[in-house]
Amino acid sequence: MNQIKSIKGTHDILPSESRKWQELEKIVRDACSLHGYGEIRTPIIEKTPLFQRSVGQETDIVTKEMYSWDDRDGANITLRPELTASVARSFVQHNLGIQNATQRLYYLGPLFRRERPQKGRQRQFHQFGVEAFGSVYPEQDAEIISIAWHILSKCGLGDDVKLHLNSLGSEECRIKYIDSLKDFISPNINKFSETSQRRFSKNTLRILDTKSEHEKIILKNAPQIADYLTDEDTDHFNQLQNYLTALKIPFEINQKLVRGLDYYSRTVFEFTTSALGSQDALLGGGRYDTLVERLGGKPTPGIGFAAGMERFLIAMGGNQKESSINESRMFFVCTEEGGIPVTLSLSQKLRNHGKEIIMDSKRRSMKAQLREANKINARYALILGRDEIDRSEIIIKDLIKGSQKKVAQSALFDNL
Ligand code: HAM
Repeated sequence: MNQIKSIKGTHDILPSESRKWQELEKIVRDACSLHGYGEIRTPIIEKTPLFQRSVGQETDIVTKEMYSWDDRDGANITLRPELTASVARSFVQHNLGIQNATQRLYYLGPLFRRERPQKGRQRQFHQFGVEAFGSVYPEQDAEIISIAWHILSKCGLGDDVKLHLNSLGSEECRIKYIDSLKDFISPNINKFSETSQRRFSKNTLRILDTKSEHEKIILKNAPQIADYLTDEDTDHFNQLQNYLTALKIPFEINQKLVRGLDYYSRTVFEFTTSALGSQDALLGGGRYDTLVERLGGKPTPGIGFAAGMERFLIAMGGNQKESSINESRMFFVCTEEGGIPVTLSLSQKLRNHGKEIIMDSKRRSMKAQLREANKINARYALILGRDEIDRSEIIIKDLIKGSQKKVAQSALFDNL
């Protein structure tokens, strides 16, 4: 029979890798709790208009990358390509703004984008992220960026990343800026790639994101968004920079950073690393002060970020196999069929006392079982042979020192 393989761009996370995932998840959960963020879990499927209205009709995500289909009742459904829209929908639906306090939320979970798979880019991938609703002030931006910085530092990535920061200003100034950018580009439009030409009319800002060196050179003299910001936008941006300096978080202003989603206003940011090759964005986010309103809620400002977990693990050099001895792990070696009931019940007792215990279930030789005990980095092997069964005893073998002692089964706990 033909084997059925996983779908292109999707991956199984095997036990040899999942420990690293759990460590990263723990760092994220701890950091979010320390900052007062509560976990939100939203459905993986949403109505398609949610993403059209928030991420934007003309973005790459919505035009090319979503997995969408007509459901049996006629509604168009999409596998979520990002989580900010879902969290904002949930915020509006459950009236979470009612307490007038800042709502601080975090999430972890899978997402789907039909992109061309490569290192650090999958079709099913995972993000963790945070979203804060309710404050227009730049200290909220600083808090969000400092959570990202905290997590990056705990993952040992603080020295490897670069923080790019920009302000896209409010909507009115962005419209004016886009007009002048179009005026600048249009005489040279033929020199731009097909992708940029397509973006020109409907998603002009994204042209600034180009990877083409030739286009970057043309764009060197393009108008700068900073010249179009209102005084309030500039104030906000300057204050944020002061707060980041107070937090000792290094950053670089990058006027070409526009991000690929339409809901942003004012602050946008991205942490990149050279460990990832061309997919160098580890984490990205920004302010979205009109999103809640666009989804039918009361005007409520918001800001957040999301990070690719696969990319974090690559940057951390993850996916290594466990190599050190696990102090609380034991392997139960039983060489006699008659010893199986004792093996099962002693294992049960040990687990009830918090010991991690693994038993052989293939009735292999003593040698093979001990080899397995070493392979899984157990600290002790508990050995039950014919003699031990007859005398209600058990051997405790220390797999580091190589020493062993025989004790009464009833005294096993006192000897571990
Ligand atoms: P994003 O920049 O589209 O932003 O994605 C955030 C991060 O997800 C990226 O920096 C990258 O690490 C990871 N990522 C994106 N696509 C893929 C992929 N195909 N394979 C692997 N990793 C990927 C957002 O999603 C916004 N919702 C962020 C946000 C939250 N803005 C405000 N709040």
